[in-house]
Amino acid sequence: MKVVVGPDPSLVYRPDVDPEADKDKDSFRNYTSGPLLDRVFTTYKLMHTSQTVDFVRRKHAQFGGFSHKEMTVMEALDMLDGLVDESDPDVDFPNSFHAFQTAEGIRKAHPDKDWFQLVGLLHDLGKVLAVLGEPQWAVVGDTFPVGCRPQASVVFCDSTFQDNPDLQDPRYTEEVGGAGGGAGAGAGGAQLGHPVARAGWPLPQAFYMIRFHSFYPWHTGGDYGQLCSQQDLAMLPWVQEFNKFDLYTKCPDLPDMDRLRPYYQGLIDKYCPGVLHW
Ligand SMILES: [Fe+2]
Ligand SMILES: [Fe+2]
Repeated sequence: MKVVVGPDPSLVYRPDVDPEADKDKDSFRNYTSGPLLDRVFTTYKLMHTSQTVDFVRRKHAQFGGFSHKEMTVMEALDMLDGLVDESDPDVDFPNSFHAFQTAEGIRKAHPDKDWFQLVGLLHDLGKVLAVLGEPQWAVVGDTFPVGCRPQASVVFCDSTFQDNPDLQDPRYTEEVGGAGGGAGAGAGGAQLGHPVARAGWPLPQAFYMIRFHSFYPWHTGGDYGQLCSQQDLAMLPWVQEFNKFDLYTKCPDLPDMDRLRPYYQGLIDKYCPGVLHW
């Protein structure tokens, strides 16, 4: 008798993503209208007021030692059942679903790249910080470099930075500021992907996709080129390839996470097994 192991592939959720198709693309990332706009604006207003060079340095000191918590990747993912990202105009459901939507979109388009699928599952794990007590404005949303003048493609750039004290500090108002840039500051969602990279991830592009996926002003807006190294530019196409799935798989058709879990646990066991230090 034939023994069937794992989920029936015909039943596995796959979002119908064609990143090259233009349909509905314009409906994503609408920051001028929509039912969630007030919540989104409030989050960015707090973020752009409070994320400063000093704030970022304190958070690096607080979390940069990887001594904050010990847990497995799946335990971290389960924590995101309790987080709805208040910066996201396209999502009003827990972030754990978004993780599986992103991963499944990549799996459909890149069936031969299991490491890439795992990046989709992991990319927002740093948002556990918001479950553990950090304010959402310190964790979620697009990232931007502190220590230099905000560029035009930053979301709500014209209406949210006026109370940020760094913009009154001449050290930090040039295109390349006194802090030398450094993307994404308080954005824990990307920063805390680092424990996974630190666990021995073999590919630099995986690290870059996690680290910079929220840096829309760079990978989509075309700003901040003056801060880029040659390696940053070489990795940009990978970050942009990832972004298609991060963005365009967002839909109210939610995946059955219990059914998908065994497949992704296999990838976790292959690339970042066991208990990690966060
Ligand atoms: Fe993200
Ligand atoms: Fe995401």
